[in-house]
Amino acid sequence: MAIPEDVINEIKYRNEIEATISQYVNLKRRGKNLVGLCPFHSEKTPSFTVYPESASFYCFGCGAGGDVFTFTGLMENLDYIESVKLLAERSGVTLPQDGYDDSMTKIKNTVYDINRETARFFHNYLMSPDGKWALDYFLGRGLSLSTIKHFGLGAAPDSWDALIKHLKSKGFTIEDMVTANVVGKSQRGTYYDRFRKRYMFPIINIRGNVVAFSGRALPEDEKKGGKYVNTADTPVFKKSLNLFGINFAKNHCEEKIILVEGNMDVISLHQAGFQNVVAPLGTSFTSEQANLLARYTKEIVLMLDADAAGQKALLRASGILENTGLKVRVVVIPDGKDPDEYIKKNGADRFKALLSGAVSDIEYKLLMAADGIDVHKDDGKLKYLSLAASIIADEDDIMTRDVYIGRLSDKYGVSRTAFSTKVDELRKNKKRYKHKKEVNDIIRPRFTAGDINPDKRVHPKAAAAEESLLAVLLKHPDFYIEAKEKLPPEKIITPLNRRIYEIIINTLDSGRHPDISVFSEKLIPSEIGYLVSLQNGDKAGNNAKAVLKDCIEVILEEGIILNSNPDSDTSVEDWASYLKNMIERKNKEN
Ligand code: CTP
Ligand code: MN
Repeated sequence: MAIPEDVINEIKYRNEIEATISQYVNLKRRGKNLVGLCPFHSEKTPSFTVYPESASFYCFGCGAGGDVFTFTGLMENLDYIESVKLLAERSGVTLPQDGYDDSMTKIKNTVYDINRETARFFHNYLMSPDGKWALDYFLGRGLSLSTIKHFGLGAAPDSWDALIKHLKSKGFTIEDMVTANVVGKSQRGTYYDRFRKRYMFPIINIRGNVVAFSGRALPEDEKKGGKYVNTADTPVFKKSLNLFGINFAKNHCEEKIILVEGNMDVISLHQAGFQNVVAPLGTSFTSEQANLLARYTKEIVLMLDADAAGQKALLRASGILENTGLKVRVVVIPDGKDPDEYIKKNGADRFKALLSGAVSDIEYKLLMAADGIDVHKDDGKLKYLSLAASIIADEDDIMTRDVYIGRLSDKYGVSRTAFSTKVDELRKNKKRYKHKKEVNDIIRPRFTAGDINPDKRVHPKAAAAEESLLAVLLKHPDFYIEAKEKLPPEKIITPLNRRIYEIIINTLDSGRHPDISVFSEKLIPSEIGYLVSLQNGDKAGNNAKAVLKDCIEVILEEGIILNSNPDSDTSVEDWASYLKNMIERKNKEN
């Protein structure tokens, strides 16, 4: 069921695209439009463009595009109807009645309900006499009862069907439990609780919904069934898009967010008064997670475990974070294995001191580069200095580069000019390489027109004409009568463009304006991006009327050629002579 146009327009009017996007992206004015760093892929030069005139956005780097609803949907991981609802709520518009839920929204809501009920079940079990074994564990690790409640911690009983029975009694179907991934289905077709005899950590998203669970084994079982069992991806959960603790951290993070490795680190630091802490969910840190953080804070303090794996993860994460423009600092934990243990042993004040002494990312890298090199020997010194020069060359701020060039040339007794020249040289090479890479990234965006409309490869000429036709109609809807008359939809050659053309014609026939929200209900995001690029590009030319006429001609002509194609049982000879004829005909025309 569609939401009435006037309601959509009211919501759009109250959620101006420029203001809405500015909440997430730092925009700068460029002529009529605004540009910024794309929140949907990582880039250092802005290719994300907002068009206030058509209330749309488009990224030339990755091809994402759409209107204020599409944008919100991509940012908040919502489908179209959910974004409309969210923006309606934010701007005080009441939706007429609640009949809009499409099937996906329904499934998501059911999964949220199951997760909430499951979290309650695990928590109640933990607090019951039967759950004493688990409560003792949490208390033994220094958590207070109020922390346990605050994080909604729980435990899964040692049973194959306790949760199934409970959820059944609440009216949920077994299929929905499987969709929520709290229940598994064996190859023999039997169902079982996925979490058994585990300490349970609910994972809560930004908007406060329980989206998944992480279940830790008892210490004596760690080797048997895996230390952690986590919810797989479901309609409401994608591991790489979420962070443990973000629901609390988002309100305490204007200054900085501390990134740690484990759930227990988040909880333990939180209890000690540090609420701006998050952990990736056992995956290696992703650029989506970095983008999520970049929306809430300017600086990340990386505090990963002191073991080798932790340090490797740290270098990787710092690269990803810097790419999103975040400032990164690193805390090396002196003793103890992880932040949880450190704070328990040394207390909040010592931890605070540790935090304020967090070395900058470059300092940390310079420190690490010396690992395994004997800098007291000449060749070791040279080796270290060339590694160091490369690290300094990566730094964008000239003052910072200057400081470290000074420090290192002093410390190792080399001429400042020589060292500085070396850094500059490396910097030039890196820049050249980076520029090449960025250009490549733009030329080969995530969705290219060819990927979105695969038939363009087969019918390049027709598809190009169709694109211009659509561009004209999006800019000058009043031409549609003429187009419709001369070019019925079935004459459009590539299916995607035919579908879009049909939507435009039907929309205008019903007296509605074909703006992006009309398409948002019917096309997938990459197709909407394609549409926005047509709408804001220059394919319609200066003389749209003439362009329209030309396009229609080309499309009809291509259709004729296509239909006169010999059918598949024609012999190779016939096919060759057909081709020859066609080429001759073309040559005569020109
Ligand atoms: N993790 C996981 N699966 C594993 C191991 C780890 O998903 N097999 C994830 C968990 O989210 C965990 C994080 O990686 O929180 C860090 O792992 P680890 O340091 O082993 O666990 P801790 O949370 O520190 O748990 P504890 O302190 O209880 O050992
Ligand atoms: Mn730990």
